Amino acid sequence: MTQNTPWYKDAVFMELNTRAYKDSNGDGWGDLPGLTSKLDYIKNLGVDAVWLLPIMPSPLRDDGYDVSDFCNIFPAYGSMDDFRTLMAEAHKRDLRIVVEIIPNHTSDQHAWFQASRDPNHPEHAKYRDWYVWSDTDQKYQGARIIFTDSETSNWSFDELRGQYFWHRFYSTQPDLNYDNEEVQQAMLDIVKFWIDAGADGLRVDAPPYLFEREGTNCENLPETHLFLKRMRKFVDEYSPETLLLSEANQWPEDVIEYFGDGDEMHMNFHFPLMPRLYMALAMGDRTPIEAILARTPDLPEGCQWGTFLRCHDELTLEMVTPEERQWMWDTYSPDPKQRINLGIRRRLAPLVDNDQRKILLLHSMLLTMVGSPFLYYGDEIGMGDNIELFDRNGLRTPMQWDESVNAGFSDAPTERLFAPVISDPVYGYQKVNVAAQETDPHSLLNEVRHLIAVRKQHPVFGRGDFNWRAFSFETKAVVAYQRKWEDTRIVVLNNLRDLPVKGWIPETAEKFIDVLTGETVLPGDFSLPPYGFRWLQPVGDKANIPSGPNAPQPGYLGSDKQ
Ligand code: GLC
Repeated sequence: MTQNTPWYKDAVFMELNTRAYKDSNGDGWGDLPGLTSKLDYIKNLGVDAVWLLPIMPSPLRDDGYDVSDFCNIFPAYGSMDDFRTLMAEAHKRDLRIVVEIIPNHTSDQHAWFQASRDPNHPEHAKYRDWYVWSDTDQKYQGARIIFTDSETSNWSFDELRGQYFWHRFYSTQPDLNYDNEEVQQAMLDIVKFWIDAGADGLRVDAPPYLFEREGTNCENLPETHLFLKRMRKFVDEYSPETLLLSEANQWPEDVIEYFGDGDEMHMNFHFPLMPRLYMALAMGDRTPIEAILARTPDLPEGCQWGTFLRCHDELTLEMVTPEERQWMWDTYSPDPKQRINLGIRRRLAPLVDNDQRKILLLHSMLLTMVGSPFLYYGDEIGMGDNIELFDRNGLRTPMQWDESVNAGFSDAPTERLFAPVISDPVYGYQKVNVAAQETDPHSLLNEVRHLIAVRKQHPVFGRGDFNWRAFSFETKAVVAYQRKWEDTRIVVLNNLRDLPVKGWIPETAEKFIDVLTGETVLPGDFSLPPYGFRWLQPVGDKANIPSGPNAPQPGYLGSDKQ
């Protein structure tokens, strides 16, 4: 690693739910000591940094994103001491931990809101203006509703105070008032608290909505960026290694603002790319990926995209057109129960019919295309989901460790688990579990682990430039690109179709090393198997002019004659 490459540019991340990972005390809920006991598994998978879903006290009306105390641990997960032990054990293994902070809102159970809403509360005067209150529910009509399945307005009436309060998410999650300097300072104090507790990074939840202004859509406002820059300045001065990872679910033109001039967030997820990987796969055509990467601006120095296939939320279709959204719903969620808000609440394996070739192909693109990849716990073994559970909880079920009762997740009586383990015939823990896959060299777990290991041998994937390459004259079925960093080039070929594709390796070289298999490949005609992929490292610089029936013309990206 060169000295000035920030750690997150080379990192592979994994997002996980403490509650669902491992229960250490038999109460049916995963906890921090349980997670600590599984750090070796995470490390062996090749993960460098773990992003924890909210671990703070909460009434769980939005599964922890409704925080009732920002400086503490949800009791069932353990204590601050358990957190410090987790940090120490993680650092011993060279693993980093990213903690979730939720600046936009609190739970309505938070002491700040209780004081704010109640004129007779002893601290009412202090907290009166910490939330966005109004006598009318007609302000800020330009703001869209995000949880379209459950909310009809961004305002709710509070009987005690006799006013409406503003909330961009559930009505149990009042938005904080960032026009109040004390709120801004309180949030910076929370950032400091978690840095002091040892966190290596903070995932900044839902940043676009911090401020409200009449006549706007109340997203991405200049005031919001000013506050985020203030947060970054604080972090740079107090703990410059700490990562700020932002969740601005926006179009690339708007997201770029969250990086500022390299003085705002270090990372942001690339939300629009994600659904287009699925779109391209189902269409067998790379066009959607081409289109969104063409719209993706270069990042300022030191910044990085976070890429992902799935996460704890619905597969969001906010960043696609209405027609594309309908097509994605029809294609990937035939049962309306699989849909929620503007998305699809299914896990990776069920989305692609449990076809290991497709799961691996998606990982090939995730691990090589752009940015730093985020895995979602359980997807590495192909876990399923449970649409019978409320909201998006069906994607957050207990980790399936082995085939013993409760999937090895907990010793509690089964009826006391926080959520049932998946036990259907296809995705059930009896079949899909870590222990079974550890012993099978061709299991999804071992294949994913191999892909991650190879990615990590080649820093070009985290740091390099991206350039399209043409593989075939005949078809757009292949997503072919070169990554380049300093003297290293790797060309990646991904076949989106369930058919072999013939083409020409689009790179100048005497020969190529397939870095996934170690095989030598010669320039010239080449065939990719159905849903196959290759990561090829050119050796030597011999001209390799495409010719022959399968070759594209120089500079040609491919038409689609099929
Ligand atoms: C983010 C979280 C999501 C949560 C929402 C409101 O989008 O990822 O799970 O419901 O913020 O806090």
